[in-house]
Amino acid sequence: MTEIRELLLSRIRDVADYPEPGVMFKDITPLLADPAAFTVLTDALAEIATRHGATKVVGLEARGFILGAPVAVRAGLGFIPVRKAGKLPGATLAQTYDLEYGSAEIEVHAEDLSSEDRILVVDDVLATGGTAEASIQLIRRAGAQVAGVAVLMELGFLGGRGRLEPALSGAPLEALLQI
Ligand code: PRP
Ligand code: MG
Repeated sequence: MTEIRELLLSRIRDVADYPEPGVMFKDITPLLADPAAFTVLTDALAEIATRHGATKVVGLEARGFILGAPVAVRAGLGFIPVRKAGKLPGATLAQTYDLEYGSAEIEVHAEDLSSEDRILVVDDVLATGGTAEASIQLIRRAGAQVAGVAVLMELGFLGGRGRLEPALSGAPLEALLQI
């Protein structure tokens, strides 16, 4: 493991039985509170944006906002929030996706995406891949291209990478940490 990965991993706190029994929650707040670690993370994700020729960064509410916004600034790109339904005031595109129990909906301002754009999606965790998959569908429906998906950590045992593969259709999925 590289020094960068060791630093990032050392700042993620495992919280047992949260938000429900049997789940090991990966808490990134110690990482965010450490300026050196947060800077290393921002730089690593910004390098991915640059390497894949992204023109804008999409962050997925809520934790994807915390990571995506500084990445956009660092890479010299615009930031587009993909929000949970009902939070954006303008004309939106919406995408529903399945959760373990029930479904969820995310939205983006349609005018924020154009056919000129190559979008890097940024989030903290890839778990089942449902949230990232829905965001890719939104981006493609808006006519923009997907430059890739970049996450701090991938929970490999949940199979998100496999679920995401068809939607990515060749675009890269980069995870700084495999858990
Ligand atoms: C969490 C996490 C990812 C998503 C991953 O978001 O931040 O966005 O779940 O899960 P998936 O790959 O199974 O879709 P969540 O909406 O739970 O919380 P947040 O609002 O704190 O980001
Ligand atoms: Mg989230």
